Amino acid sequence: MALLTGFNKINTAIFISGTGSNLKSLIKFSKLKKSPITIGMIISNNPKSKGLKYAKINKIKKKVFNFNSTKSEKKVINKLKKDNINLICLAGFMKILSKEFIKNFNGKILNIHPSLLPKYKGLNTHVKAIKNKDKYSGCTVHLVNSKLDSGKIIDQKKVRINKLDTPETLAKKILVQEHKLYPEAIIKLLNL
Ligand code: GRF
Repeated sequence: MALLTGFNKINTAIFISGTGSNLKSLIKFSKLKKSPITIGMIISNNPKSKGLKYAKINKIKKKVFNFNSTKSEKKVINKLKKDNINLICLAGFMKILSKEFIKNFNGKILNIHPSLLPKYKGLNTHVKAIKNKDKYSGCTVHLVNSKLDSGKIIDQKKVRINKLDTPETLAKKILVQEHKLYPEAIIKLLNL
């Protein structure tokens, strides 16, 4: 894929809003010798994101932008371009990016979503899966386009829903799989 040039690792930005457990797993992955990515920047829309602590621990640049206006988004675009960011991984990032933003990084933005897309786009995926008595749920990594949770699916992992599962227990089980899926999906994307 065009993203992979020579032997250089792909300079990647991770966007977060909260806990950052996917960020943590992506940082671990980026440090492996075989990893195709290096993490150049962590961006959050929320100054209180717990995940921002991983920036300091791992000596990665962090930036907070509110993403509330075209002007704020433009600042993000400029920062990413200035730093030669070539891949963006949304990891629990709770803002919807504008068409303009996506156009600037077309085919280079990934998102992780806690359901087996195309089922259950948007929020409260675990509540919906349990309410519908689904036997399985899971997680999906997909490319981001201008429609919510609708871009090309790169990879998925399935999780069995047990009778006793609550949205909370299911979320925990799926999160464990998310941490495995995101690195695998990045490798898959780069080999497409
Ligand atoms: C994950 O379940 C992700 O799929 C969803 O938000 C959660 C973020 O978790 N979009 P974390 O911040 O990576 O721990």
